Amino acid sequence: MKNYKITLLKGDGIGPEIVEQAVKALNVLADKHGFHIEYTDALLGGVAIDATGVPLPPETVEACKAADAVLLGAVGGYKWDTLPGHLRPEAGLLGIRSALGLYANLRPAVIFGPLKSASPIKDEIIGDSLDIMVVRELTGGIYFGERGRKEVKGQPAAFDTEMYTVPEIERIARVAFDVARKRNKKVTNVDKANVLESSRLWRETVLKVAEGYPDVELNHLYVDNAAMQLVRNPRQFDVILTSNIFGDILSDEASQIAGSIGMLASASLSDGTLGLYEPIHGSAPDIAGQGVANPLATILSAGMLLRYSFGMEQAAGQIDAAVAAVLETARTPDIWEEGCKRVSTAEMGDLVCALLK
Ligand code: IPM
Ligand code: MG
Repeated sequence: MKNYKITLLKGDGIGPEIVEQAVKALNVLADKHGFHIEYTDALLGGVAIDATGVPLPPETVEACKAADAVLLGAVGGYKWDTLPGHLRPEAGLLGIRSALGLYANLRPAVIFGPLKSASPIKDEIIGDSLDIMVVRELTGGIYFGERGRKEVKGQPAAFDTEMYTVPEIERIARVAFDVARKRNKKVTNVDKANVLESSRLWRETVLKVAEGYPDVELNHLYVDNAAMQLVRNPRQFDVILTSNIFGDILSDEASQIAGSIGMLASASLSDGTLGLYEPIHGSAPDIAGQGVANPLATILSAGMLLRYSFGMEQAAGQIDAAVAAVLETARTPDIWEEGCKRVSTAEMGDLVCALLK
């Protein structure tokens, strides 16, 4: 029987509860399809700070590198909010993305039919379905540029730097075009090339990469316009290609079109086979431990893990189908509607597992 290794970074807040549900779903599929998964837990974020003093201990990086894939819950919480930037839980998340070379972040914003009424966007704007793929650059730009504090004219000041190299732009652009080829063959590049020099280099480079993809349509939007177009006419988008910070912002916006931030999964990929999979939402410390968190984004992330790291398209499709089916009757509080059963985090996990069996 084939054996796969997954390192679990459950993290903080609701992280452990939601990862547990995704593990249950993976185990059902392992039984069904005849493979075995060996799990290793490693510390990231606040729990790592409490145990070791740093948000990303070296053992965690090793445990991830030794795995076939990494499944992450979420990091952060009030308790660690006042720590200096490099010791915050979020620094651990950025650190692991960087240490594993995970430069390509795929964030599908898909609206599941039964959730259409949970979307704040009118039915006629959404149409029958919505399926956008945000391709976010994940290991460069302002998240990783030089930053600091200084004094300007005797006043305290701070700065962060947005910088991209041509190879960094080329490789993420290729990912976006390759993804588009398997979808509706349209890439919308989002930048701020009317103001930022880094965006002008970004756009020039995307245009060059596009020459190798004559079969894929390319258009460009400034990020402010893209934010507006996402709610005005989301169906114009197929693949959105964008930088680290713009992708962070636009994927949260896209999640609301899809009904709830509790529904959006993500895959962070490198040039190798190792991938890291996580919901796009945070650790939600306000609801942690209450059993009310929506585990579906994490379960869908486990589906992306099966698809991208294990090459198991069929099993991945079963996760997507089970999530779509469960939404017909059962909902966690974030997406609950009249006529549906209100279920807990674990009950939602069990219902998905029952459908997968
Ligand atoms: C995300 C999150 C992270 C990010 C935070 C927690 C550092 O918002 O994955 O979207 O900004 O990348
Ligand atoms: Mg974010």
